[in-house]
Amino acid sequence: SAVELGPYRHYMQKEIFEQPRAVADTLADVLGIMPELFGDGAYQALRQTGRVLILACGSSYYAGLTAKYWIESLARVPVEVEIASEYRYRDSIPHPDTLVVAISQSGETADTLAALRFAREQGMPLNLAICNVATSALVRECPLHFLTRAGMEIGVASTKGFTTQLVALYLLALCLAQGRGRLDDQAELQQLKALRHLPKAMGAVLALEPQIIAWAERFAGKEHALFLGRGLHYPVALEGALKLKEISYIHAEAYPAGELKHGPLALVSEDMPVVAVAPNDKLLEKLKSNLHEVGARGGQLYVFCDRDSAIEPADNISAIRLTEHYGALSPILYTLAMQLLAYHTAVARGTDIDKPRNLAKSVTVE
Ligand code: G6P
Repeated sequence: SAVELGPYRHYMQKEIFEQPRAVADTLADVLGIMPELFGDGAYQALRQTGRVLILACGSSYYAGLTAKYWIESLARVPVEVEIASEYRYRDSIPHPDTLVVAISQSGETADTLAALRFAREQGMPLNLAICNVATSALVRECPLHFLTRAGMEIGVASTKGFTTQLVALYLLALCLAQGRGRLDDQAELQQLKALRHLPKAMGAVLALEPQIIAWAERFAGKEHALFLGRGLHYPVALEGALKLKEISYIHAEAYPAGELKHGPLALVSEDMPVVAVAPNDKLLEKLKSNLHEVGARGGQLYVFCDRDSAIEPADNISAIRLTEHYGALSPILYTLAMQLLAYHTAVARGTDIDKPRNLAKSVTVE
């Protein structure tokens, strides 16, 4: 109803703007980095584990892909991420010391539940759920779990569910790192400080909405778009493309920018906007040379970057700068920009944003 929506036009917009609150709530009880955040008994499970297997669908799968970068780099534990509907029917090689992490906003996605049960049957009893619904089937069958506090998500396309999953997964990476002597007290304090600053930093990205609306109006007339990112920001590009597909019905694909030359470059023309996620990290120079290839072929570039990313706007290059450089947590901030771009493109196209055609909020059948 209008009362619930307040100043917003759709639940999706409301939920996008709720994210600083959702992240703050998710962190509210996190007084330190400790395994117990994931339940009694997590201490043993997190120490025993030699590897991590993440199972999920949709946006939750992209949260898992992001977590792979975090866990491998912070904790030096090998991580595999699998789409639940693939994993459950695959002859994979089970390792009993695997921590199996199921990620699901709803906790009711049939494929994710079945994949987790399959993993257990394969002899992997260390299971952990990351979920937004305390009463869900997933939480009921996983004594070890972390509950995100996004609050009820109504828009079919996940927004606050996704970013709070990222927060939970970052905490998991930190706990695993700590258990392996890779997080001393000082590093722990710094990480907590960075996490607690997130809501404010997220607010600064949401304030870019007017600039993003201007881009969205240009996007609305297109039928195809390409999203590029590298490293930790490749999953952000995937999520950006998924959001655009889901709610604006524009065909969008994401590529790790280094793969451009192995295919998608053939599609680049002025009719296909190219969105790049370009934080000022160690891959920026590589990414810039990828972007140069797009520009040289007449592609229109829309670059989300950091204040100091040294990307110069030109005829075919537009840039929106995020105000803060956020290191490892940067994907959370860039995701907000992706959500706003998809949302406003869909608004300009007049689609049914909160209930896109053919899609369901949670897919409880196979
Ligand atoms: C549906 C929703 C997506 C969501 C996916 C996984 O496809 O439309 O937004 O990411 O299910 O849902 P889950 O509840 O398991 O995270």
